[in-house]
Amino acid sequence: MSLRLGDLAPDFTAETTEGTINFHEWLGNSWGILFSHPADFTPVCTTELGAMSKLTGEFSKRNVKVLAISADPLESHKKWIHDINETQNTTVNYPLIADPEFKTANLYGMVHPNVDKFTVRSVFVIGPDKKIKLMLTYPASTGRNFDEILRVVDSLQLTSGYSVATPANWKQGDDVIITAAVKDEDIEAKFPKGHTRIKPYLRTTPQPNI
Ligand code: BEZ
Repeated sequence: MSLRLGDLAPDFTAETTEGTINFHEWLGNSWGILFSHPADFTPVCTTELGAMSKLTGEFSKRNVKVLAISADPLESHKKWIHDINETQNTTVNYPLIADPEFKTANLYGMVHPNVDKFTVRSVFVIGPDKKIKLMLTYPASTGRNFDEILRVVDSLQLTSGYSVATPANWKQGDDVIITAAVKDEDIEAKFPKGHTRIKPYLRTTPQPNI
């Protein structure tokens, strides 16, 4: 049975470059990002893990812990990290799971039946309630946009705290959408910064948490 948004993120214990991790315990009250890559010592993956390491400061400001995974063994990960640091001008500062038997990858459906030797490029964003908030899968030839993952975390954290949704291409500071759950007569009290009623179903307000 494949995972869906809102499901409990499967718990696991795994060997990582920073020691053994029990996933739920390691997450604690944080948000989490678990992302898989096909293989060590491959070009797109090298740029991806470098890009992520440059953003971990931003994720940690948002109380998000980052964990990478592939089927390669621990020694391979450790050697590859040197290459990532050297070529991407960074320092990988989050753990990489070594999952040679695909135990964790299979829990998350990261091994596509048509690409059976590799984990695909999956991303799971997990909330402090341990539920899956976002899932995405990219093909091996397309490196992911890690700024987009940060943007989604901003949207998820905003929408979990207020009765709002974020429109297409929203970014920090842009107006947001008041959800249908809020009645017109309650808007002023709930959104004191003002609002615009473009259509009865499309009501916007300045971003509440800034
Ligand atoms: C890469 O990271 O470049 C890559 C990995 C696996 C298959 C194809 C490309």
